[in-house]
Amino acid sequence: MIVTNKYYLITLGCQMNEHDSEVICALVENMGYIATTMPEEADLIIINTCAVRKKPEDKVASLLGKFASLKTNKPNLIIAVGGCMSQQEDAAKYLKNRFPYLDLIFGTHALPRLPELISEAGNRKETIIDSEESYIDREGLPVAHRGRFKAWLPVIYGCNNYCSYCIVPYVRGRERSRNINDIIVEARKLVARGFIELTLLGQNVNSYGKDLPGQVTFAGLLAELNQIEGLERIRFMTSHPKDLSHDLIETVKNGEKICEHFHLPVQSGSDRILKAMNRRYTREQYLDLINIIKEEIPGVALTSDIIVGFPGESEDDFLATIDLLEKARFDNAFSFLYSPRRNTAAAGFTETLTRKDKEDRLQRLNDVQNRISKEINESLADQIVELLVEGESKGNPEILTGRTRTNKLVHFKNSENLTGKLVQVKITETRTWNLIGELQLKLDNKYV
Ligand code: SAH
Ligand code: SF4
Ligand code: F3S
Repeated sequence: MIVTNKYYLITLGCQMNEHDSEVICALVENMGYIATTMPEEADLIIINTCAVRKKPEDKVASLLGKFASLKTNKPNLIIAVGGCMSQQEDAAKYLKNRFPYLDLIFGTHALPRLPELISEAGNRKETIIDSEESYIDREGLPVAHRGRFKAWLPVIYGCNNYCSYCIVPYVRGRERSRNINDIIVEARKLVARGFIELTLLGQNVNSYGKDLPGQVTFAGLLAELNQIEGLERIRFMTSHPKDLSHDLIETVKNGEKICEHFHLPVQSGSDRILKAMNRRYTREQYLDLINIIKEEIPGVALTSDIIVGFPGESEDDFLATIDLLEKARFDNAFSFLYSPRRNTAAAGFTETLTRKDKEDRLQRLNDVQNRISKEINESLADQIVELLVEGESKGNPEILTGRTRTNKLVHFKNSENLTGKLVQVKITETRTWNLIGELQLKLDNKYV
């Protein structure tokens, strides 16, 4: 009888982590493991962690607490914790002390070494920690893509911005752009395998190329990718407002495959707080920038991230953020309670707000943004939009779900399986979070 080892993987955090998990899957599958959705069945459990706020870190502790009993029943079970939390030496040591049954703690830089580390962990005497900040090229590592028609494509790793609240530069290292040819070759291969939408990933995609020889820019990369035949949609995230070039706006405007959506985190509408956050733009500069984007690209969608309750945020600072929301009119904004992160500059700032103050502000902010999102969606009524069909809606196979080029979720009724296809839909009903549409006649073969 052939015994197959099984692995169970949980991913916390952002899209970059989701992509890293696709690499982890491919690496462990190459070692002979097959995926399971049941931790009780697994011979290898991996948690790919996020350290951006306290909440995802607490989740790791609660998951590990649950997995402890599995180890008692199955002594050969390997439990590993990877990702951003593991990359921080002090967090790694804390995990090792608190959960001594952990076999392996591996940081974001350790991906190329993962197979060896797992093999070693099988014979370990004590928890193995690999939090080394080593810049080994990740190029050529295998990827087990989760989707069939949409794929992540990292273009730049790391971040040099050091926003005062943010842990990412510490856990992802300095900016490293991938070679442009490697990206284009990978994109072509993905398209040849049937992927029609690619999302380019980076903590700040606008920095792409700055560390490469020659005149390589993110706009230039997008323009090249726009030439790939068979590719239908190109998305990208995240853009830092301080260095979004006019060239990029023009490229998005002119590149017919490049989706009209910018995720452009503003974080705060108060100049004083923006300065303390080390964001390196003012509220006026931000508002000017998005006005140019809106003028140049009609129908463009803008989304943002906002931190509420940064140390020293006064009621006036907060009201400046609310005012910015009213002026910017984002399609959607993701708002977070400020969470102090060890070793960051802001961790040394004195917090001036209670949790209750922060939560009240978050609620007020969300009320304003929800109203704006709803109003923007209402303006889409009766429009005909292109959707990439993602699949059946949860709990109702007769309803299909897709996304517009502007990344809005639309549900529509259809009995045919159109998953992975581009269709045209007329918006018949609008809500705060999604839209309802009606499938249009298939006038063009492309949409069947
Ligand atoms: N590189 C991206 C995203 C980084 S993390 C960018 O520059 O925008 C995603 C979001 O988490 C950030 O935009 C910010 O809004 C939020 N965030 C980061 N650190 C945080 C902290 N310490 N507390 C609360 N929110 C935080
Ligand atoms: Fe963090 Fe700022 Fe870098 Fe974004 S740009 S990852 S918020 S340091
Ligand atoms: Fe992403 Fe969280 Fe790491 S947001 S980069 S997984 S700290």
